[in-house]
Amino acid sequence: MSQRVKFNQRLFDLPLLQGFGRSIHARRLARQTRFQSTATRFFRNLKQFQALEGPLSGLADRQAPLRILVAGCSFGCEAYSLAGYLAVRFPHVDWTIDAFDISRAAIAVAQRGVYGAKHGLAYPLESEARPYADRLFEICGDKRSIVPDIRRRVSVSHGDLLADDFTADRSYDLVLAQNFLVHMENQAASEAFARIVGAVKPGGAIFVGGMDLDTKVGLIKHHELIPVDWEIEWPSTIATKCADRLWPWGYWTLEPIDRSRPDFTARYSTIFRTKAAAS
Ligand SMILES: C[S@@+](CC[C@H](N)C(=O)[O-])C[C@H]1O[C@@H](n2cnc3c(N)ncnc32)[C@H](O)[C@@H]1O
Repeated sequence: MSQRVKFNQRLFDLPLLQGFGRSIHARRLARQTRFQSTATRFFRNLKQFQALEGPLSGLADRQAPLRILVAGCSFGCEAYSLAGYLAVRFPHVDWTIDAFDISRAAIAVAQRGVYGAKHGLAYPLESEARPYADRLFEICGDKRSIVPDIRRRVSVSHGDLLADDFTADRSYDLVLAQNFLVHMENQAASEAFARIVGAVKPGGAIFVGGMDLDTKVGLIKHHELIPVDWEIEWPSTIATKCADRLWPWGYWTLEPIDRSRPDFTARYSTIFRTKAAAS
């Protein structure tokens, strides 16, 4: 981490400067041009996946197959990382993943399933990720390709979450929609969020790391979602990976966690559940 970034972090971590940081960030949010990117990486959200062995353990315990949707999957790193995790940790569970992205170029990479540093597989992987990587990849020259039995269980297609004909009616146990809602204008993010919620079964879960926090808190309330208290202080992917432009300078960066906030869990959690169906 550069000296400039370290200094920036220390400065805005000071409680006295957080209010000042918030007003800079609000201005950046209002004025900076939003942009989408296909940046992604294998195993960057293992902590979230571990919720499937914690507060979300009921989802994988059922007799019925576990159905997962990954919206905005980019090159497929997130979907395949989850697939590798499930293959190791839940070998007896019947699961499938549907993944889609608006970028045809990214989808072509995800469908091919062959990876090097350019598409999210930079070595060395963190030691925690290695057992899953060993299960997920086979060597393919100087690259790694997804092993066939996992590749068959992940279906990758082109799709736009905001398209008029988008449908996914309450058919998934878990929906991931991460690191792209933050790049949408508020109205589009609200519509996209409604579609994500609409894709989840009652009692299911969504992972929505990487979205504007005020927008998220409003939408959580509106859709009556239940925040899951799990690894909340684990740093967000967006905040840590855009290290050269940390909060408050970029509209997509995340504020330092404020433990005193009454809406702490809704604001900083990235995992939410829909209400279970009334029996
Ligand atoms: C920064 S990448 C994140 C990939 C992955 N979710 C992750 O967190 O590693 C965001 C992806 O969302 C996709 N995206 C943006 N808007 C979309 C939309 N309306 N429908 C589907 N995908 C979209 C972009 O093309 C991009 O590949």
